[in-house]
Amino acid sequence: MKLLVTGGAGFIGSNFIHYMLEAQKDVQILNFDCLTYAGNLANLSQLSSHPRYTFMRGDITTGRDVERGMSQGIDAVINFAAETHVDRSILDSTVFVRTNIEGTHLLLEVCRKKKVTRFIQVSTDEVYGSLGETGKFTEESPLAPNSPYAASKAAADLLIRAYHKTYGMDVMVTRCSNNYGPYQFPEKLLPLMILNALENKPLPVYGDGLHRRDWIHVKDHCRALHRVLMEGRPGRVYNIGSDQERQNLEMVEQILALLEKSPELIQFVKDRPGHDRRYAIDATRLRRELSWKPQISLSEGLAQTVRWYQENALWVSHVRNGTYLEHYKKTYENRDQTLKDL
Ligand code: NAD
Ligand code: TYD
Repeated sequence: MKLLVTGGAGFIGSNFIHYMLEAQKDVQILNFDCLTYAGNLANLSQLSSHPRYTFMRGDITTGRDVERGMSQGIDAVINFAAETHVDRSILDSTVFVRTNIEGTHLLLEVCRKKKVTRFIQVSTDEVYGSLGETGKFTEESPLAPNSPYAASKAAADLLIRAYHKTYGMDVMVTRCSNNYGPYQFPEKLLPLMILNALENKPLPVYGDGLHRRDWIHVKDHCRALHRVLMEGRPGRVYNIGSDQERQNLEMVEQILALLEKSPELIQFVKDRPGHDRRYAIDATRLRRELSWKPQISLSEGLAQTVRWYQENALWVSHVRNGTYLEHYKKTYENRDQTLKDL
């Protein structure tokens, strides 16, 4: 199977590529990524001479790039490429609309033309909006996004639906809860708190810190995506979550405890506008139809993740000081090539 992975240099995409090359011995992966600030080829440095892996620098909002990416007999596409940070979308949502909506639309159009119909859209539970104290999101919950990021992802989900209904394409949407694990860019809660704590910097907790998220290890998300890719039903939406709901403050306190740092590092700061209070996912469909279940407990996964950031000081320092941008982006500047050409 030839798989086009868009956004494969980001957090979940790079974890997915590592996972898939191990789990599916007949898969060939073309990683198609334009390398924004969130794309980091160091996440994949061990794969530079892997026989079943190729990198191509390309933008999902540029027709010529997407045509080129799909020119080599692709069997399926999994779309991770997106702008993903809620706080950035609040400051300026322009690129969110372009990448997350127009980019997904372009991918769908080129797939339709080239008859690549198997398409997985990696979406998020944030499209459902915020929950009260009880209940969980099911696939039938109404879409009620509250941030520009979530709205752009919801719009893309609706395009996927329309391409299934109108053109009969074999497309699916997955909606996962908050991921954590190795290679996550330190603008998101967990890596930011881990790295700040390691440097004895303040840990900025928004509002009262009692907002709740369902935390899933990225590897469990990758396992779920693998199941959906191989056996998912066309037109279906699949929720992915691991029933490990925690308040932000609890997560931050656990990190501090693991690092043996003082809770005095916690600093309550102004809340995020439109901040969703609670997410919780009902993943019954995925469990029943595709026999998936999460394997990594939060306590085990969090300890592993904290250790990963401690043991990968070079990755951390390149990300913290921006070196990864210069090194990798210069290498690929305006060049139509793969890693193997280097
Ligand atoms: P990320 O921000 O770490 O990575 C995004 C990747 O997409 C980067 O490598 C970036 O260079 C690439 N990219 C951005 N714009 C592009 C473009 N125009 N063309 C090609 N590549 C482009 O994101 P992530 O956390 O790995 O999330 C991946 C996907 O999973 C996203 O679609 C996100 O909405 C979804 N998701 C994330 C989470 C989470 O907790 N992180 C949870 C559920 C769903
Ligand atoms: P984040 O990692 O940005 O994911 P999302 O907004 O997609 O859920 O944030 C997770 C939670 O942590 C969210 O409730 C906002 C909160 N948060 C903080 O309290 N401080 C921070 O510095 C960040 C980045 C997030």
